[in-house]
Order: sequence, then C-alpha cells, then structure tokens
Amino acid sequence: MKVFVADADVPGLRALSKQLNTNPQDPAIYTTEVDVAEWESIERAFRYAVSAMGRIDYVFPIAGIGERRSFPNKPKSDEYVKPDMSVIDIDQIGVIYTVSLAVQHFRRLEKNRHGVKGRSACSSFREKCLNADRLTTVVAVASVCGFYIHTTIPLYTAAKHAIVGFTRSYGKILAEESITFNSVCPNKIRTSIGTAESYEKAEKAGCLVPMEKLLECFEMLLSGGEHKDLSGECLEVAPQLGIRIAPKVEFVNEESKKSAEITYERSHYLHEVVE
Ligand SMILES: NC(=O)c1ccc[n+]([C@@H]2O[C@H](COP(=O)([O-])OP(=O)(O)OC[C@H]3O[C@@H](n4cnc5c(N)ncnc54)[C@H](O)[C@@H]3O)[C@@H](O)[C@H]2O)c1
Repeated sequence: MKVFVADADVPGLRALSKQLNTNPQDPAIYTTEVDVAEWESIERAFRYAVSAMGRIDYVFPIAGIGERRSFPNKPKSDEYVKPDMSVIDIDQIGVIYTVSLAVQHFRRLEKNRHGVKGRSACSSFREKCLNADRLTTVVAVASVCGFYIHTTIPLYTAAKHAIVGFTRSYGKILAEESITFNSVCPNKIRTSIGTAESYEKAEKAGCLVPMEKLLECFEMLLSGGEHKDLSGECLEVAPQLGIRIAPKVEFVNEESKKSAEITYERSHYLHEVVE
C-alpha cells in the first residue's frame, strides 16, 4: 500500500520522506506541498497523487488550523475590518474541496475485485484493508467542536459543525454509490495545534485522548467488519470513554421527518449522473 501525503509544511514533508523512504527504488510515501484552501493548489496535488499512484482508494482530509483572532476587539477604531476567515478556508472549504476531488476520482474507477468503487480513512492493518469488502473511502478529521460548543473558538466551531453536517448529509448519498464518507471527531489530542500548557491542563483534568484511540477509530472504519458499510456518520473519540457514533438530533415529530424525506426526493437529481 502506497501513501501520498500533501501538506503545507514543506520541512515536515522532507523529514517524513527521509524517515520513511529508506529504499529509493521503492518509495513508501510520496509527498507534495499543498494549500488545501486553494482549489488550484489542491487539484494540482491530487492530480500528482493520481499520476504517481495510478488509483487512490482512501482519502483523508486532515489538515486544519486552530482559531485565529478573527474578530479583533478594537472599540477605538473607525474601520470595519474583514474577519480573518482562514479557519473556514482551511478547516471547512479545504475539507470540502478534498472530498470533492476524492469522489470525482472514485467515480472514475473501475469497480474493484470486490465489486465496489472506493473508501476515504488507512501492515497487519494493511492486510485488513486489502481484505475489506469495500475499497473506496473518505475519512475526514472534524472535531468534537462539530457538536459540542467551545465558546471562545467560534469560527473553528462553525467550520467543524459544517463538516459534521456535510458528512451526515453527503455521506448518506455517497453510500448509494458504494463510496463511504465518515468523519472522526476527537476531543483534545496532543499535537502541534494546541499549546503545551493547555495540553498539560487537559491531561490533569482527564480530558486528553491518546493518539492511539484516534488510530483505532480509523482502523475500525477501514478494516471491514461490522463497520464496513458505515457512511454519513461522525465518530466521537471521547476522553475516558473512547469511540462512539455521535448521536444526531432526533426529528421533533413525524412531520419533521416527512419534510426531510420530501427534500430527499426533490433534490436527489443533484447527485445523479450528468453527461
Ligand atoms: N489535536 C487536537 O486536539 C484535535 C482535536 C480535534 C480535531 N483536531 C483536528 O485534527 C486535524 C489535524 O490537526 P492536528 O491536531 O494534527 O494539528 P497539527 O497542527 O499537528 O497538524 C495540522 C496539519 O495541517 C497542516 N496544514 C495547516 N494548514 C494547511 C493548509 N492550508 N494546507 C495544507 N496543510 C495545512 C499543517 O501543516 C499540519 O501538518 C485538524 O483538522 C484539527 O482541527 C485536532
């Protein structure tokens, strides 16, 4: 199994490549620079991935940044300042761009030996993936901020809520084409996105999630078994409790449910083949 990593962090990509590509004749990973917020950049990176690997069966939109000072509090200023929208551009638009590229590629693939098109989420695990019944999948990384409210990070919360809604809606339609699309929603994990101080505080409070739990969640989605057909779901990775399918808001009554069925019938054509 080959892996293609696209990221904005060029020194990081170089270091990863040096660490993993020990055999120059047979690289374990390909890398390229990308800005997921820019369509031209991400399309170029995706085309490069397809040309390097021939076909892609799994896509993982993961890149993200934390909240910026998007709404500077300057009561003495006379100016109207445009908010810094980079969190929306990267954590929301970037994920939607990546899913869109994955789906277009999956739709062009011949059905594989298992009779299905593609997956987006990841050794013994390699064998499990190869033996899984379905082989085209997207697994995005959203966040628990996609359904819980963390009040001081409004644009991050908005972006992650958007990805949760996008997954729950689009993932259900894609399942009709044998493409699965789910999101994993971890609570705090020690990475470069947060500060050492906040992770220490979270660890003391028992709020940290070990990275292994997140990887277990990817494995669960990718290795066949009872979750092989799961699509349109957000998997919470919670401190202490671990992994669960995050519950959706229930319809308030039968009429609200019927309304969603009418929307399905009215708008299904948007996803049907156009020549
Ligand atoms: N660490 C956590 O506590 C936590 C919790 C929930 C969700 N998440 C989500 O996990 C994902 C990964 O974040 P992480 O925690 O590993 O942080 P990280 O900072 O370690 O990694 C983020 C990666 O995204 C890349 N990136 C940033 N902007 C980019 C752009 N415009 N184009 C391409 N690449 C870009 C960075 O170079 C970096 O490699 C993010 O979507 C984040 O919101 C993280």
